[in-house]
Amino acid sequence: MNQQTSYELSKLNTPTSIKNQNLINWVREIATLTQPDQVYWCDGTVAEYDRLCQQMVSSGMMKKLNPAKRKNSYIANSDPSDVARVEDRTFICWEKKEQAGPTNNWIDPVEMRKTMTGLMAGAMRGRTMYVVPYSMGPLGSPIAHIGVELTDSPFVVVNMKLMTRMGKEVFDLLGTNAEFVPCIHSVGKPLEPNEKDVLWPCQPTKYIVHYPETREIWSYGSGYGGNALLGKKCFALRIASIMGRAQGWLAEHMLILGVTSPEGRKFHVAAAFPSACGKTNFAMLIPPAGFDGWKVTTIGDDIAWIKPRVDPKTGKTHLFAINPEAGLFGVAPGTNTITNPNCMASLHENAIFTNVALTDDGDVWWEGMTKEIPKHLIDWQGNDWTPADAAAGKKAAHPNARFTVAAINNPAVDPEWDNPEGVAIDAFIFGGRRSTTVPLVTEARNWVEGVYMAATQGSETTAAATGQVGVVRRDPFAMLPFAGYNMSEYFQHWLDIGAQLESKQAVLPKIYCVNWFRKNDQGQFVWPGYGENMRVLAWMLGRVQGSAQAVENVFGYSPSYQDLNWDGMPFTQEQFNQVISVDNASWREELKLHDELFTQLSHGLPKVLTATKTQLESRLA
Ligand code: OXD
Ligand code: MN
Repeated sequence: MNQQTSYELSKLNTPTSIKNQNLINWVREIATLTQPDQVYWCDGTVAEYDRLCQQMVSSGMMKKLNPAKRKNSYIANSDPSDVARVEDRTFICWEKKEQAGPTNNWIDPVEMRKTMTGLMAGAMRGRTMYVVPYSMGPLGSPIAHIGVELTDSPFVVVNMKLMTRMGKEVFDLLGTNAEFVPCIHSVGKPLEPNEKDVLWPCQPTKYIVHYPETREIWSYGSGYGGNALLGKKCFALRIASIMGRAQGWLAEHMLILGVTSPEGRKFHVAAAFPSACGKTNFAMLIPPAGFDGWKVTTIGDDIAWIKPRVDPKTGKTHLFAINPEAGLFGVAPGTNTITNPNCMASLHENAIFTNVALTDDGDVWWEGMTKEIPKHLIDWQGNDWTPADAAAGKKAAHPNARFTVAAINNPAVDPEWDNPEGVAIDAFIFGGRRSTTVPLVTEARNWVEGVYMAATQGSETTAAATGQVGVVRRDPFAMLPFAGYNMSEYFQHWLDIGAQLESKQAVLPKIYCVNWFRKNDQGQFVWPGYGENMRVLAWMLGRVQGSAQAVENVFGYSPSYQDLNWDGMPFTQEQFNQVISVDNASWREELKLHDELFTQLSHGLPKVLTATKTQLESRLA
């Protein structure tokens, strides 16, 4: 790089404690490219968080909520063009298109680098570039990895503080030469001298770019959620899935929960559901009536990093999981004291709300939060809103409105949530939103059939995900928007992990497929869901410890009516039949859709999956 044009070293403000020369060189290189007014190295302290929030309140980007209602909490409204992850603007730039596979957007990395360098040139002018050091996973955990995000958004910094282990300790861990995933983020709105900033700077054209070969992330044009908090989907799923394949572990779109039985046995379950299928609710489930003495605790609500390791207690290999995140970034609409009481309790203090509505007494509101609709609100776009607007179908909160809070706010946080060793997984659950066809619960006969179930899972879309409602989208492993490489190879990686575990006589987690969303002929949900999902969970754990019964069907094993605990919930055999039944004709149609998926993914598709499909077809016939 030309020394004359390099960002002046003295302006870099590098703290003297930072000794990692690769980090310093990279920060300088990006400052030279993006030309921020100043560089600020985050220390992750509460004082820093409070100061940045105060600064955003002064600039009008955030408002402080009434502390009597929600202590130390804030609300922000994004630009209406910047309200969700932008899957069609997300790129995985492997050298070759086949490496990204047919389910990812791909552009040649050389071309993409030209585009991104062009967009980022001078993009931070007039702004501060924040250097945000963070660990995905407990500091120093053998399962954790480090990232550093350079961003010109203070909103991103405060969200990263809640969502990750962010701060000075991470610089210390980087020492002189430890590796990190470099992440560059700009809202793409440089400021001229004396130009007044807009409330939510962003650009209509957005790029969320991953370079797998160099494990870098470049994001331009959005300040929102997964587009901008680069530790989450970009690193912890897309880049981490690539690292996991190379290093023999799994990065998954999974919640992790702990269940303690009345006898005191603790189980750990990881569950993958597509976006907006209630992962946060399931992760924070409160056991219902009839489950005295059972306890459910949360380790994570969105992402799991899972590595095989020998458990010194048993001498056997298990899959151990950590939650790489340290906070919740959940969908607010629909969350209430019935669907998720623990979540509502988590939001009492130290929370940030984005695109929810503001009440007249300085609190937040969203659709589904209370039965009674407030008489007056300021909606997510800053306009007056009354029940007449509700009647006209105008939402007070955006359907993808979010809350950000630290994991420790959750009253049901698991005591092991921050354990660097992780927790041993007893069962994997895969599920989607299906009003027909897919039964309440099925246990896979073996690892390969479990991988088949997960690979072919589908879900009906919701407004939050695509704006198009009720269309079944295949979402293998709930990873469709998040796998960093060819989906067929991703299936192969799961099969390889299973084969390796089997060869080591490891304790293999059982694999389940669930569907909480089956509807009757009148279009009503039959299964009550939420806390009542405990009934299904308890059956699975009974299977894990060998005490629960099951019957075999074409797809695997499922419970009979009497195998579930119905204490405290009236649910008839007939209702149960409606959620557990397998209709052969619908399944023949369903398998045609599996065919479509397999045709799309035919390049490199593991043969064992097509063979499994053939076996299912012959069983169905
Ligand atoms: C999320 C998602 O935000 O999956 O977690 O979209
Ligand atoms: Mn998610």
